[in-house]
Amino acid sequence: MLWFLLAAQLATVGNQPCQECHRNISRNYAKTEMASNRVNCEDCHGPASLHIQGSDRLIVPTALEGSARDSVCGQCHLKDAIQVARVGRKASQYRPGAEFGRYVATFVSAKPAGPVDGLQASKCRQKAGADLWCASCHDVHTGKTEPAAACQSCHTAQQCKRGPDCARCHMPQADHRIIRPGRAPVASTTWQLRPFSAVDRGTRELGLAYAEAFARTRDARQQAEAVRLLRGIAKPDIAVRTALTKLKAFQK
Ligand code: HEC
Ligand code: HEC
Ligand code: HEC
Ligand code: HEC
Ligand code: HEC
Ligand code: HEC
Repeated sequence: MLWFLLAAQLATVGNQPCQECHRNISRNYAKTEMASNRVNCEDCHGPASLHIQGSDRLIVPTALEGSARDSVCGQCHLKDAIQVARVGRKASQYRPGAEFGRYVATFVSAKPAGPVDGLQASKCRQKAGADLWCASCHDVHTGKTEPAAACQSCHTAQQCKRGPDCARCHMPQADHRIIRPGRAPVASTTWQLRPFSAVDRGTRELGLAYAEAFARTRDARQQAEAVRLLRGIAKPDIAVRTALTKLKAFQK
């Protein structure tokens, strides 16, 4: 019985049925860039086959904690980072509410790969913690971006009187770091990778990430690190063995 319920819950229904009961959100959302890129309500709220019958509540991302909440946007907006599927898992198995890192581990370098790790590299986020996240500035249902209101929820008008368009001066790069103008940290190019979050750890995954990084850069240090990590794995699966074969071919 439980199995039936779970299976039914996993079914997606698309955006059409939502219009009947969520008229405004549906109408606004249809005009956004994400909608035209075929991002559906259920990509952020979870499968809705039971919800539309009135028998289930959906995920509201804002109500999730830390990494599970950030995963809702991170499942798509971390693609420029290096991502490695865990054994027997793939990205398409992820559902909002879970931690994406349990399906696919993400590794980043010092230079931000996009909005998600860029924001994470900001002092605001590091000091204020999880209060600052994607939806602080982006209303995804309308496609509107209002950074100033978010800035002012933490910073007072006294701290800076240089004008209302905070993002123009403090977020000049597309990578989403909030900076002190003129003191933008030079994005250091390092060969080293680190797990995007605590959930993204794993020796096998890190080793495979270095192998992928090496394939992109041909940096011998990444190659050596990949070989070192992958050789240390007691029971190498097919992905590990394939990667080692490829790495060794380049070692000659
Ligand atoms: C890109 C992710 C994303 C997509 C796509 C999305 N939503 Fe949301 N939705 C959110 C977030 C984030 C919140 C929480 C907003 C907040 O609390 O500020 C939310 C909140 C809601 C809520 C509850 C709170 C409210 O505002 O009434 C409803 C209902 C809702 N969404 C319906 C929809 C429907 C219907 C669609 C498709 C037409 C949709 N959403 C598409 C992310 C998304
Ligand atoms: C038959 C009407 C109906 C349909 C169809 C419907 N919803 Fe809802 N939805 C509701 C009602 C009513 C609530 C408020 C529930 C409450 O507050 O108890 C709600 C609440 C929500 C919430 C807030 C979280 C929750 O479950 O309370 C989200 C998110 C949401 N709907 C998204 C969607 C999406 C996405 C679709 C389309 C796939 C959809 N809804 C289709 C009636 C509907
Ligand atoms: C299923 C994949 C997916 C999910 C989930 C997703 N996005 Fe997107 N998003 C896209 C794609 C695809 C685009 C359009 C191409 C691009 O800019 O990368 C986009 C564009 C955007 C844009 C620029 C266009 C606009 O509408 O302003 C913003 C901002 C954005 N997303 C924020 C978010 C936030 C915040 C979340 C989480 C609440 C989220 N996205 C979740 C795939 C996704
Ligand atoms: C402090 C405010 C703020 C936060 C927090 C924020 N953004 Fe943005 N975002 C912006 C601004 C400002 C722009 C530029 C908007 C414009 O030019 O209209 C932008 C643009 C974007 C774009 C389109 C341009 C691009 O870089 O491709 C995407 C996608 C995006 N944001 C995703 C995200 C995601 C995902 C998160 C959460 C990790 C996030 N943003 C958090 C302010 C913010
Ligand atoms: C959730 C709260 C929060 C939000 C939202 C927020 N900040 Fe911050 N910000 C902080 C905290 C906390 C610090 C660290 C203060 C300290 O160390 O004394 C900080 C630091 C800063 C600094 C100094 C950075 C540095 O490297 O020294 C600047 C500039 C700044 N914020 C501007 C902004 C701007 C502009 C926005 C909006 C785009 C914003 N903040 C959004 C909490 C926030
Ligand atoms: C015209 C460009 C510009 C605009 C617009 C702007 N700022 Fe600034 N902001 C600066 C500069 C320049 C500094 C000084 C950096 C330094 O001390 O090295 C600064 C400093 C700050 C600081 C750090 C204060 C301190 O001494 O720790 C905060 C916080 C801040 N701004 C927030 C904001 C907020 C919030 C907004 C929007 C309401 C905003 N700024 C609009 C250029 C700007």
